Amino acid sequence: MCGIIGYIGKKDAIPLVLNGLKNLEYRGYDSAGIGAIVNGELIVKKDVGKIDEVFSKINISSIGSNITIGHTRWATHGKVTKENAHPHTDCKNEIAIVHNGIIENYQELKKELISKGHVLKSETDSEIIAHLIEEEMKQRNFEDAFKKAIEKLKGSYAIVAINKNEKEMMGARKESPLVVGVSEDGYFIASDVPSFLDETKRVIYLYDGDVVVINNEIKIFNKGVEVKREIDSIEWDAEQAKKGVFKHFMLKEISEQAEVVKKAIMQDEKIIKEIVNAIKNAKGVYFVGCGTAYHACLEGSYIFSKVAKTHVNVCYAHEFPNYVHFLTPESLVIAISQSGETADTLAAIRAAKEKGAKVMSIVNVAGSTLVRESDKVLLQHAGPEICVLSTKSYTSQLTILVMLAYALVDKLDEAKSKLKELIRYIYYLTSKNTQEYIKKLAEKLKDARDIYLIGRDLQYPTALEAALKIKEVSYIHAEGFAGGELKHGNIALIEKGTPCIIFTSKENEEGIIANASELKARGAYVIGVGPRNSEVFDFFIKVRGAEEANSIVQIIPIQILAYQLAILRGLDPDRPRNLAKSVTVK
Ligand code: G6P
Repeated sequence: MCGIIGYIGKKDAIPLVLNGLKNLEYRGYDSAGIGAIVNGELIVKKDVGKIDEVFSKINISSIGSNITIGHTRWATHGKVTKENAHPHTDCKNEIAIVHNGIIENYQELKKELISKGHVLKSETDSEIIAHLIEEEMKQRNFEDAFKKAIEKLKGSYAIVAINKNEKEMMGARKESPLVVGVSEDGYFIASDVPSFLDETKRVIYLYDGDVVVINNEIKIFNKGVEVKREIDSIEWDAEQAKKGVFKHFMLKEISEQAEVVKKAIMQDEKIIKEIVNAIKNAKGVYFVGCGTAYHACLEGSYIFSKVAKTHVNVCYAHEFPNYVHFLTPESLVIAISQSGETADTLAAIRAAKEKGAKVMSIVNVAGSTLVRESDKVLLQHAGPEICVLSTKSYTSQLTILVMLAYALVDKLDEAKSKLKELIRYIYYLTSKNTQEYIKKLAEKLKDARDIYLIGRDLQYPTALEAALKIKEVSYIHAEGFAGGELKHGNIALIEKGTPCIIFTSKENEEGIIANASELKARGAYVIGVGPRNSEVFDFFIKVRGAEEANSIVQIIPIQILAYQLAILRGLDPDRPRNLAKSVTVK
C-alpha cells in the first residue's frame, strides 16, 4: 500500500528521504510528498504522480533539513489529488504526518475535531491524525500528545509525525508494517527495509502497538510501558535492491530465479523436520495465501497429494474466516507470503491462533509480522522482490513446497538433488535466447483482447498463475481454466484467432492435447508449453519435463511473455496501474 519514511539525524535528510521513497515506490505511486523541518519552519511539497514526476517539478535540492518525512501513496480514502497526497498538516501547519493504513473511526473523529474548530483540507482519513495531535498539544507536549492521539485511533496504521518546534520524530504501528533503521548518524522510520538499505543494514522491527520516539535517543513504548527491542542485521545487500544492468526489476527478478531456487533449497533441515512432524501430527492442514502466494498454496496441495499422499485444504486468506469454525488446537495453518505483511494473510493466521491452531509459514521477508507471529518459519532467502508482480518469490515458494512434500515421505535428499538438477536449466529458461524466442510470441499476442491459459492436474495452478501474470502487467484480459472445465462453459468464449496457452506434461498429455484439439477446432490460436511439440500447436515453447517441479519451470516462459507484452504495449512492468506490492489493508 502506501510507503512511508522519515529520517532524523546529522545528514541532509531530504535526499535520504527521496532516495528512500524511490525504493518504496513499489508500495504505491499515485502521488508523493515530503515534509521537512528547515530552520524551524515546516515545508511540505506534494503532488499527484510518480515520485520522479512530483519532485522534478519542485526545486528541493537547495533545502537543508535534518528532520524530514516522505510518503508515496496508493489511494484508499479520497481521490488521487494534490490535497489528498501526504504529508498532512494541522491547522497551524506546524505538525506533519504520513500514514499507511485505514483509520476506521475517522468520520467520528473528524466530526469531533470540526466541532472543536479544526479545518480539514483533504478527503483522507489520515489528515485527522495531524489535527488530533494538535488538539492534544493544547494540554501536553508533542510526545504525549502523539501517544494520546494514537490511543484514539481504530483501524490499521503506520504513522510518522514531526513538529516544526521539536527536534523529534514519532512513529506508531498497528497492523501496518513499520521498521526503524539505525545508522551511524541518525535514524530512519519506514514501511520497509529497502528504503534505507543504502544507509544501514541495522534494523529494529517494531511490534504491533509500538510507539517510537526519537530525539537524542530512541525510546519504544507499548501499552504505555517502555520496552526493549533488539537491533537486527539485514542479510540483504543494497545492491540486491537495485536494478543493476536490467531495465526493470521484473526482468531482473525473473532472471534471478536459478539463484533463488538454489537458495530456497538451502533450508535448515531441522525446521523442515519440525514442520513435517507438525503436518503428520495435525488433524487438518490448511494452506493460506493471497494472489501469487495463493497459487503456490494450490500447487502445493497437488504436490503434497501426489508425492506424499497427504491432504491439505487450500484457502484464500481472505476467505479463511469461513473455515475457522472447524479449527481446533490440533489444526495446522501454513501461511505463504512473500512480504509477510499482507493484511488478509495476517488476519487469517490470527483467527487460527484464536482457535488455538498452530501457525507455520513460508515467507521471504525476515522480520516481517508473519515471521514474528508464526510458531515456525521457513525463510525463502529470495532477496528483495521489488517489482509489484511476484516472480522469483513464486518459484522459490514452490521449491520449498516440493521439498516439504518429499520430506514427508523421508525423501528430502531426493527432492534436493532433483531441484539442483533444474538450476542449470532455469538459467537457460531465463537466458537472452529464450527471451528473444518468447518476444516473437509476444509480438503476435500484443493486441489480443483475451488470452486463455489451460492446464490439467499440476498444470492447473500454473495456468491460474500464468493468467494472473499476463493480466496484472499487460492489462490484457487473461483467464486460467482447468482443462476438464473447458466444455462446461468456457469454450463458448473461443473465437477465430483467440490465443490459448496450453500447459502439457508427460503425465497428462492425452487429456490436454484433446483439449487443445477442441480449441483448435473452434479457431483458437494454440500455444503449447511443455516437453513435447504437437501438430495441434501453432506456436510451441519447449520446457523440459520436471514432474512435480514442472510448475517451477513452466511458469518462467509466461513470466517472460507477460513482461514482453507490457513492454510492447508501452507499459511500465514494475508499476502496473492500480496495484501495490504489499497489500497491508483489508
Ligand atoms: C499483492 C501483490 C501480489 C501478491 C499478493 C500477496 O496482490 O500484488 O503480487 O502475490 O499481494 O502478497 P504476499 O506478500 O502475501 O505474497
